[in-house]
Amino acid sequence: MKVLNFGSLNYDYVYEMEHFVLPKETISSIGYSRNFGGKGLNQSIALAKAGMDVYHAGRVGADGQDFIDYLNKYGVKTDYLLKDLNEATGHAIIQVCNGQNCIILHGGANQKIDEKQVDEVLSHFEKGDVLLLQNEISSIGYIMEKAHSIGMDIVINTAPMNDKVFTYPLDLVDIFVVNEVEAAGLVKSETDDVETIINLIKEKLADKKVVMTVGEKGAYYIENGNVIHEDALVVKAIDTTAAGDTFTGFFLASYLQDKDPARALKLATKASSITVQGKGAAQSIPSIEDLK
Ligand code: RIB
Repeated sequence: MKVLNFGSLNYDYVYEMEHFVLPKETISSIGYSRNFGGKGLNQSIALAKAGMDVYHAGRVGADGQDFIDYLNKYGVKTDYLLKDLNEATGHAIIQVCNGQNCIILHGGANQKIDEKQVDEVLSHFEKGDVLLLQNEISSIGYIMEKAHSIGMDIVINTAPMNDKVFTYPLDLVDIFVVNEVEAAGLVKSETDDVETIINLIKEKLADKKVVMTVGEKGAYYIENGNVIHEDALVVKAIDTTAAGDTFTGFFLASYLQDKDPARALKLATKASSITVQGKGAAQSIPSIEDLK
């Protein structure tokens, strides 16, 4: 079984702020860094750091060699990462304040993934392989259909949640990994009450496996009407960027190894609690050794 993560790669321009910038305001940051990020890249790094063999497919600009080197450094395979000399690599502008963040995305090359590239990448995979997706690249619906026709299992983290998600063939998904806001959007919940969302998941996504993180209320795994819960760990958050990506990568790596969702929830919770205690995205993701 091979794991393919078809996902975004961004330069993250991170500004530490005393408060988030408001309309009509011009303010200085109190710190700055440029890091490797993108939900796709972060999740590939998390999978690799959790001990999983992973291929990352995606699209970067002419300056993309840095991303290839970075992914390779952690053992992520980049055979299917395309360098597009006519496009800029995607980037994100991230304000961080009191452990919280605000993110502006510019898709760049991430939004230029086309059917030709998808066909080429997926020709290297087969029945039983696993596809992981997030919602930061183009052609997601096509990737899902093609992967399903091959017999791959499909896992999707529907972040960032927006209306495009409902244009995808969601009936083809095997596992959803979502936070409570994404989950509420998926099942069209009118309230943010966790019990209500879980009941709607049981009803509307009855044939799916759903992993839902709920911040300080911990994480849930819902399958066939059964619910497993893991408490959150209480830590002081410095920067929550990539916490969800760490959770997705560690959950999936663990789950694919032994199909034990309770163990996977525990490991993913631990890993993301370490990520929030460090600055930046991919660079703050711990390794499986750190967890031990
Ligand atoms: O989930 C965090 C990521 O979201 C950042 O690395 C940023 O690039 C955006 O994609």
